[in-house]
Amino acid sequence: MSNKTLAILKPDCVRKNLIGKVVSQIQEAGFKVSGLKMVHLTEDSAKGFYEVHSERPFFNDLIAYMTSGPCVPIALEKENAVEDFRKLIGATDPTKAAEGTIRKLYAESIQENIVHGSDSDENAAKEISHFFTRKELLEINGWK
Ligand code: CMP
Repeated sequence: MSNKTLAILKPDCVRKNLIGKVVSQIQEAGFKVSGLKMVHLTEDSAKGFYEVHSERPFFNDLIAYMTSGPCVPIALEKENAVEDFRKLIGATDPTKAAEGTIRKLYAESIQENIVHGSDSDENAAKEISHFFTRKELLEINGWK
């Protein structure tokens, strides 16, 4: 079990002025912010990040959406981070997300679903390194 995951506050989250609310909910759930930045993904960078979905019918729309405005990648730390974060954000499809989850509260559709969360420890490590160098990340144990 790893203690790291990558969140992305997607362009719809930024456009709706929900950055603060969503970050509060994440921190109140016990996650520590180890790295955070606002970036406007290029097409190449978005395609690289979502390569695993390149054969899916929604891929082109996903790239258009993720490059439509700035987003906020956040490296998070917590025990059992990947699983606990996915519980906090809820199902990909907001109509199926549990009450009180971030997607249930704020997401419009299966595509415009406010926030991304890594789906495995292996992908969390890859995804964090897509956005952050090691030097940009605070090591939580170093804060004690
Ligand atoms: P996420 O799980 O973060 O990563 C893949 C993204 O593709 C997903 O969020 C949605 O934003 C988007 N997407 C669009 N359509 C679909 C779909 N039918 N199934 C899953 N993901 C979709």
